[in-house]
Amino acid sequence: MIKKCLFPVAGYGTRFLPATKSMPKEMLPVVNKPLVQYGVEEAIEAGMNTISFVTGRGKRSIADHFDISYELEHQIAGTSKEVYLGSIRNVLEQGVFTMVRQREMKGLGHAILTGEPLIGSEPFGVVLSDDLCLNEDGPGVLAQMAELYSQFRCSIVAIQEVPMEEAHKYGVIKAEELKDGLYRVDDMVEKPPQGEAPSNLAIIGRYILTPDIFDIIRATPPGKNGEVQITDALLTQAKKGCVMAYKFKGRRFDCGSVTGFVEATNYVFENVYADPA
Ligand code: UTP
Repeated sequence: MIKKCLFPVAGYGTRFLPATKSMPKEMLPVVNKPLVQYGVEEAIEAGMNTISFVTGRGKRSIADHFDISYELEHQIAGTSKEVYLGSIRNVLEQGVFTMVRQREMKGLGHAILTGEPLIGSEPFGVVLSDDLCLNEDGPGVLAQMAELYSQFRCSIVAIQEVPMEEAHKYGVIKAEELKDGLYRVDDMVEKPPQGEAPSNLAIIGRYILTPDIFDIIRATPPGKNGEVQITDALLTQAKKGCVMAYKFKGRRFDCGSVTGFVEATNYVFENVYADPA
């Protein structure tokens, strides 16, 4: 039912400098696959075949990754190496890719608003591809959320329990649990000061948003760090109507941090990766 998924990929990735000086952080490989491809595969699995990137300067290799490399195709056609193109060919066959540039990095809320012309007036998914989410025992996180959307028809954020001393790094919710793992959001705060988080339920990089969010973001003033925060816009939406939070099934690695990236690499190598040859 949800056809489109927005990928804000305009950030600078400063925590991975110098690797990210001329290369997008989203193209860093976890074993043999760029981070962003994991996210795109998760969106396509959830039925969201239109993949919309909010890119920035220096991110051209993302657009190239989701296109044919004619020379490469020609060179390895019919050879034993062709199997290595299997996963990206699959993605290209199923997905349609659109993009728009965010000219100034004014925050995640602003990045999402920049994607409005690609989304229009329909509900849509959002993936922050530096959060790598895996669920080998069932549907991916976005597919779990799409299923919930079909029941509740309101914006949904994915959440995870984090240690209290880590809560200041996240958007944190205060919520009433409706049933196991599903909450109705009462309040939320972006990166609360140490010791002031309303709970240990942290928002991670998967959202389903209803399109009224665009007007709400337009009316949302810059918040924490002078950036337009999606958390602030979602709080307005929660107060006007309803925002749900969902404790997803699966694992999440914070690949925006070096530690999380290394953990993801070890995990994928040991549990997920299979040499196609
Ligand atoms: P982060 O703040 O985690 O990403 O933003 P970053 O800025 O690239 O990382 P560091 O802190 O400098 O290492 C979360 C997500 O939102 C996107 C980023 O690309 C990332 O996927 N984003 C953020 C935008 O697209 N535009 C923005 O203005 C801000």
